[in-house]
Amino acid sequence: MDRGLTTSGAARAGESGFIERFASPSRRIHWTLGVLYVLLLLSGLTNFWPEAKAVQAADVRVFAWLHVVLGWAFVAGLAAVLGPLLAPTEGGRALRGDLRALTRAGVDDYLWLQHLALRAMRAPSTPPRVGKFNAGQKLNALASLTLSLGLAASGAVLGVNYMTKSVFEVGFVEGVFPWHTALALIAIPPLLAHLYLALLHPGTREALRGMALGRVRRDWAREHHPAWVEEVERAEGRAD
Ligand code: HEM
Ligand code: HEM
Repeated sequence: MDRGLTTSGAARAGESGFIERFASPSRRIHWTLGVLYVLLLLSGLTNFWPEAKAVQAADVRVFAWLHVVLGWAFVAGLAAVLGPLLAPTEGGRALRGDLRALTRAGVDDYLWLQHLALRAMRAPSTPPRVGKFNAGQKLNALASLTLSLGLAASGAVLGVNYMTKSVFEVGFVEGVFPWHTALALIAIPPLLAHLYLALLHPGTREALRGMALGRVRRDWAREHHPAWVEEVERAEGRAD
């Protein structure tokens, strides 16, 4: 059975000092699309490195071929998200909950960004009570979604053209290519920031446990996402 953010699941997590953060559909989607996205960026960027671009096997440019294969897997992965997203299961509900939390903006998000700006200027400031995701994460989600859809759409045109020249006019493909390149280059800074926060920054590294195993330390969650923990604990109270 899926272990989503259910009242009973959360209560079990509470007993061990951990709290359930991501149900398995959210984690599966994140890792499948996330790893493909990173590999696509790396294989695509080999186009700017003449030695790598020239690598051939049986008359085929290896990295361009790999990029197109990964690209179609990414397009299929994006389409496959609809399955768990519409599923009437506990995991599907948890996934829809994550999406709602990522796409809802309020005054606290504005206050969080203001807090970030004040802290950057070394001015005193107290953060608002953050829910499941802070405004930075919501902006990252918006950027990831826009860039993924843009890269998948432009990439699909290039991918079809890679396989056959008889579908799209040369002029159209030549018009799409710079958009694909620009989106890929725009994707680099937010991705590097995301990787830094997830893998290196001591204050936020605990989140990696949540995306890998589903649960995070309750004391960490209380410090970084107090309003969310309160919401889960209210649900736990109902479960007791
Ligand atoms: C996360 C998604 C993606 C990223 C970050 C990405 C990145 C890149 C980059 C950096 C280039 C090189 C651009 C240049 O030389 O100016 C490229 C080229 C290309 N991309 Fe993508 N891409 C993505 C998705 C896709 C998808 C979904 C497809 C196809 C289904 C695709 C097909 C292509 C093709 C055919 C080329 C030209 C390859 C060549 O002939 O050298 N890309 N991509
Ligand atoms: C492969 C390396 C990656 C690692 C190690 C990683 C790590 C993480 C972690 C730990 C979280 C959970 C944050 C939390 O608890 O709230 C997360 C969330 C998220 N990740 Fe990734 N991620 C990776 C790649 C990507 C890629 C390539 C994308 C999309 C382009 C992406 C998009 C997101 C989004 C939208 C969220 C939710 C919002 C946020 O926390 O920013 N991730 N990631």
